[in-house]
Amino acid sequence: MSSESLPADAFTTLRAIVEDRRTNMLVDRDREVSEDIVRDLCELAMWAPNHKRTWPWRFAAFSGDGRVRLGEACAEDLIAGGSDDEFKIQKVRSKYTRVPCVLVVGSAPDDHATFHDENRDAVSAGIQNALLGATSLGLASFWSTAPVIDGAHTLELCGFESGTRLIGMIYLGWPTGDTLPGMRPDLEINIISS
Ligand SMILES: Cc1cc2nc3c(=O)[nH]c(=O)nc-3n(C[C@H](O)[C@H](O)[C@H](O)COP(=O)(O)O)c2cc1C
Repeated sequence: MSSESLPADAFTTLRAIVEDRRTNMLVDRDREVSEDIVRDLCELAMWAPNHKRTWPWRFAAFSGDGRVRLGEACAEDLIAGGSDDEFKIQKVRSKYTRVPCVLVVGSAPDDHATFHDENRDAVSAGIQNALLGATSLGLASFWSTAPVIDGAHTLELCGFESGTRLIGMIYLGWPTGDTLPGMRPDLEINIISS
């Protein structure tokens, strides 16, 4: 689609979706998020810009008992990393069952240090695409940090190659309540035109 064929109100629509997206975990745990929707969101993610076409996005979607296995793998990674915080370890074991679907998004490694970093940038941009897609479908979403960003147990469960970094554990579900209105600080921009 060329920019000429976009609807005249495309920016208004985009802006509304961008501003409407809120970090939200108030969801119906029993109402599933279909695999078709998850696939659509992952495809949106892959339309993010990506330097050198390394196609760094890696996805693994967890639902049902898969969420329990995800929690177990993350707990194992915390323990393997030397954590003795029993409270945190126990919390991680069960936290992913709070929503019907958790989409784990990883960034593939690259031998070139710059591309390795830029892969992460592209994956973060992709996650935002997916979050906006979720918002446009009426889904609640929540980007959370992986307990261990490169934990071997979680990578193996996800089917990701060693060296992949876990950039987001994305909680998805159908909202049951509204969040507080979003806010952002006033824009500051330095305009240099000559
Ligand atoms: C890279 C990244 C990691 C995040 N990790 C967490 C997290 O682990 N726990 C959490 O409560 N929120 C996490 N968030 C969500 C932010 O807290 C949230 O975006 C922020 O509070 C602004 O709220 P909004 O998304 O509704 O605008 C993360 C956001 C980003 C971009």
